[in-house]
Formats: sequence, C-alpha cells, structure tokens
Amino acid sequence: MAHAPKKVVLAYSGGLDTSIILKWLQSEMGAEVVAFTADLGQGEELEPARKKAQELGVKEIFVEDLREEFVRDYVFPMFRANTVYEGQYLLGTAIARPLIAKRQIEIAHETGADAVCHGATGKGNDQVRFELAYLALDPDVQIISPWRQWEFGSRTDLIAYAEQQGIPVPADKRGEAPFSVDANLLHTSSEGKALEDPAIEAPEFVYQRSVSPENAPDSPEYIDIGFEHGDPVSIDGIMLSPATLLTRLNELGGTHGIGRLDLLENRFIGMKSRGIYETPGGSILLVAHRGIEQITLDGGATHLKDELMPRYAELIYNGFWFSPERKMLQAAIDASQEMVTGSVRMKLYKGSASVVGRTSPCSLYSLDHVTFEDDVVYNQSDADGFIELNALRLKLLARRDRASGKNR
Ligand code: ARG
Repeated sequence: MAHAPKKVVLAYSGGLDTSIILKWLQSEMGAEVVAFTADLGQGEELEPARKKAQELGVKEIFVEDLREEFVRDYVFPMFRANTVYEGQYLLGTAIARPLIAKRQIEIAHETGADAVCHGATGKGNDQVRFELAYLALDPDVQIISPWRQWEFGSRTDLIAYAEQQGIPVPADKRGEAPFSVDANLLHTSSEGKALEDPAIEAPEFVYQRSVSPENAPDSPEYIDIGFEHGDPVSIDGIMLSPATLLTRLNELGGTHGIGRLDLLENRFIGMKSRGIYETPGGSILLVAHRGIEQITLDGGATHLKDELMPRYAELIYNGFWFSPERKMLQAAIDASQEMVTGSVRMKLYKGSASVVGRTSPCSLYSLDHVTFEDDVVYNQSDADGFIELNALRLKLLARRDRASGKNR
C-alpha cells in the first residue's frame, strides 16, 4: 500500500461483517470512515444501518435509494441483450456492483476521501467487480480489501473481535450463518455452507422470494407487458417507472414460482461454485423481451445479437462494465432496439413464463407472405433458384466424394 489511508468510503450494509470492517478501518487502519449504504431493492430497512454507523462514531453517512437508477441504467440495458451467463444466470449480483462502486467513487470525491473499501472476500467475483470499477473510474484511488488484508482466519475470530470492540453480535450470528445471501431488486443469490455440496438439492428454506412451482396457483395468470425501444414500460396498459415495474414483475413471478435456478458456475477467479438464484421478475422479462423482438427485430440483427450476447454476459460477469468493449457492445445492442416497441402477452403458470401473444406498431411479421392460404405477394417458384444456388457447393462436394469412393 502506498500510504496509510486517511479517509475511507466503505460500502456498508449495516450487517455484522461490514460493521466489523468499519471498526477495523477505524482502529487498525487509523482511518476516518465515510459510510455508504445503497438501497438497491434488497428489501431491508436502511435506517438501522444509519443508526449503527452513527453508534460506531461515523460522522459522514450516505444512505441512498438507487433503485430507479439501478433498474433504468444497469438492469434494463443488460436485458436489451437478453443476457444470460453460462446459459442460465441472469447476473443479478454482477450488474449491481458497478453502480455501488460508481457511487462510492463519487462520494470519495465529494468528501475528500482517498480510499474506498468493500466487504467482498478474496475468493469471489465481487472483489474483482468492485475493484475493476473503482480503478476504471479513478485510477489513483486506494483500495482496501479487508478480507485479503486482515489477520482474522475464521468467523470465530471475527466474532471475538466484534465483542472486544463492543459491536453487538446478534444471537443468530454466533454460530455460522447457514448460507451467504446477496439480494437486490433483480435477484436473491444464496451460496456457501448448507449449499456447498452440489449433489444435494437445496432445502426449501433457502428460497426467499418465490413459492415452489408445485405450491403455485393452479390457474394461470395473464399479463400484457408494453415495451418501448427495447425497455418494458407498462403492465396491463399502466405505465410504470423502471423500479416499480420490476417490483411488480417480482411479485407476479414470486407468486407463480418463476425464476428459481440451481447453478454450478465458473467464477472468473478460476474455481467453480454452486448457487441458488431467485430472479422472478427478471425471468419473466427475459422471455417477454424475446417475444417483442420476435415480431419487431430483423432476423440478421437477431442472430448477430445472439452471437454477441455470451461475450457481453462474460464482460458483465467478470466486472468489465466500465470497459470500452462493453460500451461498444452496448452501443450496438441499443441501436438494434429502436423499433423494439409493442406489447407481449405473457402466461404465468407454475414456474413458467411463456409468451402467448405479441403485437407491435413496428411489426415485421407479414401475414401476406407467410400465409398457408393463397397470396399475391410471393412467388413460390422463386425458391427454386434460392435452393439451387445454396445447394451448389453441397452438390459439388457430394459428386467429388462419390467419385473418390468416400463414404458420407
Ligand atoms: N455467484 C454470483 C456472482 O458471482 C453471486 C455472488 C454473491 N452471492 C452471495 N450469496 N454472496 O455473481
């Protein structure tokens, strides 16, 4: 480390771990702490975090509701690409980190702090995501990563330190927490401890925001999602702000058991990990966005987007949100969404969200062309030449191989 930090902006949840970090920054690092707590829709009261920071002697405390910015500027741009990591993960944790990091750097500049600090461990993706974002936004900022720096080896050490420093330890935190949770408006992710054996099905108590599909209502529910330029703007004709819309989709998805995922994934850092995800609203949105693209987006544009998507997902997963290549891809994705406007009818039923209808003022669907009935716009014999030329090289290959006796 270059020099001892004087003032540190800590990403503070108000929980035990970040409270210990806060105290550790004050006592072991001799730093003044600025506490920053963001509401990203994790569903917890934030005022207790303010109070706790006050009790720990923090003078500058930032408690901010970032839900609209989170959904509008991070979640929706990502969904324009139909983004999934390794075929399934909707990136609920990965997409939240750049926003938290961005606000931390802004607060550091506002308060004259020379360092930032996060509570991510030395084994995961989140340390990488936070720190790549910090450094992309301020190449000179000092980063404090307590889990990679301090001497505590176990949770028992941490609790002992908390008690010695007078940090209240809730009774249920004395033993090991049964698993680790990260939640926001897009998802809840649970990892570790009880979930570490990937052969064993996760117990029902792990799930926090969805019923199991078998306990979901026996009759389906239909909703209409309106889109403008690739982003959802309304449900059943009622215009909703980004965060309000996602909140509503979460309620609907949670009720119908939609968006549960048990995934064994590849971390950027090299190891595999097993997680349980609940992304009820996001899972509806992913399918609905595909539905509106089906009717409005050109086939070539659709297929190019599908090729770019895994790369874009990997950039977000690995923490490169503020990289030039992510911004280049975003520009291409956004350009594709100009005409992605219209409405999608969704059927929600026992864990599944299906498109059952789509309409658009920008439709490319031509019944005149595709109809099985008589038409006047399309000449079926045109397909003769189309097939003849596409088959040309296949025929040349087949003749050569037949002449040389090769089996195909
Ligand atoms: N594996 C997920 C990711 O890297 C979630 C990580 C945080 N989850 C947690 N329960 N601590 O994006």
